[in-house]
Amino acid sequence: MPNVALQSHQNHQTLVITPETTGAALQGTIQIPGDKSISHRALMLGAIAAGTTTIQGLLLGEDPRSTAACFAAMGAKISPLNTESVIVEGIGLGQLQEPQGVLDAGNSGTTLRLMLGLLAAHPERLFCVTGDASLRSRPMSRVIKPLTEMGGQIWGRQGNTLAPLAVQGQTLKGFTYHSPIASAQVKSCLLLAGLLAQGETTVIEPALSRDHSERMLTAFGAQIDADPEAKRVTVTGQAGSLQGQTVVVPGDISSAAFWLVAAAITPGSDLRIKNVGVNPTRTGVLEALEQMGADIERENERTVTGEPVADLRVRSGPLKGCTIEGEVIPRLIDEVPILAVAAAFAQGTTVIKDAAELRVKESDRLAVMASELNRLGAHVTEHPDGLEITGGYPLKGTAVDSHTDHRIAMSLAIAALNAQGPTTIHRAEAAAISYPTFVETLSQAWI
Ligand code: S3P
Repeated sequence: MPNVALQSHQNHQTLVITPETTGAALQGTIQIPGDKSISHRALMLGAIAAGTTTIQGLLLGEDPRSTAACFAAMGAKISPLNTESVIVEGIGLGQLQEPQGVLDAGNSGTTLRLMLGLLAAHPERLFCVTGDASLRSRPMSRVIKPLTEMGGQIWGRQGNTLAPLAVQGQTLKGFTYHSPIASAQVKSCLLLAGLLAQGETTVIEPALSRDHSERMLTAFGAQIDADPEAKRVTVTGQAGSLQGQTVVVPGDISSAAFWLVAAAITPGSDLRIKNVGVNPTRTGVLEALEQMGADIERENERTVTGEPVADLRVRSGPLKGCTIEGEVIPRLIDEVPILAVAAAFAQGTTVIKDAAELRVKESDRLAVMASELNRLGAHVTEHPDGLEITGGYPLKGTAVDSHTDHRIAMSLAIAALNAQGPTTIHRAEAAAISYPTFVETLSQAWI
């Protein structure tokens, strides 16, 4: 078993990982926390529905906590957050109250962008929204521009592009939007605005992004017409209230991805990951790893409250480089950092293209993964829209930094497991954004 130690320094934590030299492997069965995207949506739709929504398996990460706090500040009654059963007493469609203070989305782009669609469509109410330093540097014009076309009034820093934002709610008009980017946050923002707008709102994407909003809105009773082949979805506005539901949140495939790669690259591993959401708009990581030669089996496939779920069994084996590009990118957008780690342990070169969106995530994930993996001795070249990684160079433990990005912290931890000597990951507390029990699981699942 590797030695895993967490050290606290004022506001930050450092994770020190010293790998085993005697062939420790990942074995047994693990559980992963609830899906972040579905957790946000369950809290939001519960808050704006009529009646009670019960959420089982909610992710207790910092991001869904930000969503819960924002909607509680606007009048929804949300029981203390736990994984068993969170009760949301909805306030009803169009009934969000003007909050007394500033809404704080923390580190969460999903909270801010999805919520903005709802706020813009609440006439006669003023909302002020902000986030942490990372979120305040992320582009908001991608949602402000289309909301403005619908009649929204939103002001932000630097020419209405950056938070903090002020929103003066308006009666919006439905429209058709050809989104220049495949972004579930943009699509979902406009669908939520469209719920309250006059007429129909249609979003057409260049490639299909995750469709959790479409599925959950339909379950709550919204009038949604989705045509995934055409990458088009329409919501009919002002078509009646949403009804509270029971939502069972599956495990997050983006969190499972760390263990898929850890087991694939650690010789002798045979690991089962229970209860993983395998919605086809999220399974690009499985396809990419299979293309690299990984041995991943789906077991016990089922549907849980409208979302496909399976257990995943992964066994170690040699990986080979591959090209990851085009329409699969939005379906693995959050897994590029951990796929870069897999590539560093694969034979040959892996090319990741069409992934410029990674530059505007919680950090510039292309720049940060290139710099931190190269510190560890990997051979990574950064391109404007991707990475080129030549695998097979042994990694050597050293000091690296999460850049306060949860997925970077965890990806570097998995790389460290197979490096020579100890790796020190600074600002590792970022993992709690999406995976508060990551370090615990890192210390389990070994023989
Ligand atoms: C998310 C959509 C993705 C993803 C993010 C969660 C969502 O962002 O990166 O972690 O829940 O809708 P984009 O839609 O902006 O690509």
